[in-house]
Amino acid sequence: MKIAVIGTGYVGLVSGVCFAELGNEVICVDKLSEKIAMLIAGKTPIYEPGLQELMIRNSNAGRLRFTTDFASAIRESEIVIIAVGTPSLPNGEANLEFIQAVASEIGSVLNGYKVIVTKSTVPVGTNDQVVNWIREQTAQPFDVASVPEFLREGTAVRDTLNPDRIVIGTSSQRAANVLYELHRPLTDQVVQTDIRSAEMIKYASNAFLATKISFINEIANICEKVEANVEEVARGMGLDSRIGSSFLRAGIGYGGSCFPKDTQALIQIAGNLSYDFKLLKSVVEVNKLQRGSVLDKLHETLGNLQGRIIGIWGLAFKPGTDDVREAPAFDIIQRLLDEGAELKVYDPIAQDNFRQVYFSDETSINWCNDMWDVVDNSDALCLLTEWDCFVKADLEEIDLRMHGSILIDGRNVYRLEDVSKTGLHYYSVGRPVIN
Ligand code: UGA
Repeated sequence: MKIAVIGTGYVGLVSGVCFAELGNEVICVDKLSEKIAMLIAGKTPIYEPGLQELMIRNSNAGRLRFTTDFASAIRESEIVIIAVGTPSLPNGEANLEFIQAVASEIGSVLNGYKVIVTKSTVPVGTNDQVVNWIREQTAQPFDVASVPEFLREGTAVRDTLNPDRIVIGTSSQRAANVLYELHRPLTDQVVQTDIRSAEMIKYASNAFLATKISFINEIANICEKVEANVEEVARGMGLDSRIGSSFLRAGIGYGGSCFPKDTQALIQIAGNLSYDFKLLKSVVEVNKLQRGSVLDKLHETLGNLQGRIIGIWGLAFKPGTDDVREAPAFDIIQRLLDEGAELKVYDPIAQDNFRQVYFSDETSINWCNDMWDVVDNSDALCLLTEWDCFVKADLEEIDLRMHGSILIDGRNVYRLEDVSKTGLHYYSVGRPVIN
């Protein structure tokens, strides 16, 4: 099939590359010419394991092209995938200006029947507007479908090629048939539904996963008080097939470009219709508070943090990505700076990005080139992202190289029995303290 993908962000680029991998002819379009030049040169603007190799392979095979020529890309294609950003407005609502601009532009160049697919996460009802925005520009036939994306950063290629399900929201059986055909090699698990339900499935899924995380984080906080172990609790809960074991890892809360944005957007969507989504508001609040648990543990052990040397391992919102949007590390570092702590930080992939986005003018952070430089002479070490290099770190070496002996593990990566063989004072999330 001939496909145009509009927008080469996370969702657009990964979808484009994966559809080419399935044998389709894909043209990825972006208005940023530097980005297109980079992609043509075989470089991905995002760090995503496996993506660059797949992109080069499919470009060399002639199945994948990149262009700024919007009109030609649309005219050549049978399917047009809209994958532009929907960033949050200050009130939490999704900003639809990019979607609207693309829809109008599609309408102005349409040259025959096409299926227009929205993959961007959009509020319920947006695709009806997309129909109107296109219709205002053209009398050509087209159908619109909502096919939300469920890929995760860090495992985006694997998730796209092995989805749990594909959701196809459309009122047109003709469009549904085209999209069944396109997705047939990926899975038999297809949910065909109306457009609004498809739009809602995306928000409801992300909101539910965020709810699982905040729920287990609150259970972890109670476990700390009653001396239970949240990992055992999550294991016992997760074996119940009605609950499931995934997204029950307690930690310092969720971050990234999706859960924070989509939970806020859903609260706002409900609020605009005079529905107070109390549960989801609490999920967001709990997530905010959970970041503070690292500071609480530092205060409990060190008291006043003025002049204390605190080491930070990990800045990305999760491992496998250089994305630092809504990373818990930002709030934690900001608060430590406010309290006068001296910081040494390291992240194997996201460090430059984090520094540039949040602290480009900050001179009091020591940006280390090596994870062990962070440990040397610190009073406490805080692990905020579970990168493999930290997970595999030698606990004895941490103990030896630190000035103090406090290890705060925000992601529960170390085994309690391993830590107890060292002299470290170990605080994790919802598990017994090792002193
Ligand atoms: C999330 C969803 O998982 C995807 O299905 C969805 O497509 C995507 O948002 C999106 O809307 O585009 P992503 O944000 O890439 O994907 O990352 P996740 O792996 O879901 O992790 C999100 C955050 O939750 C991370 O900060 C992670 O550390 C945290 N998390 C996750 C936990 O704290 N505990 C868990 O058990 C799982």
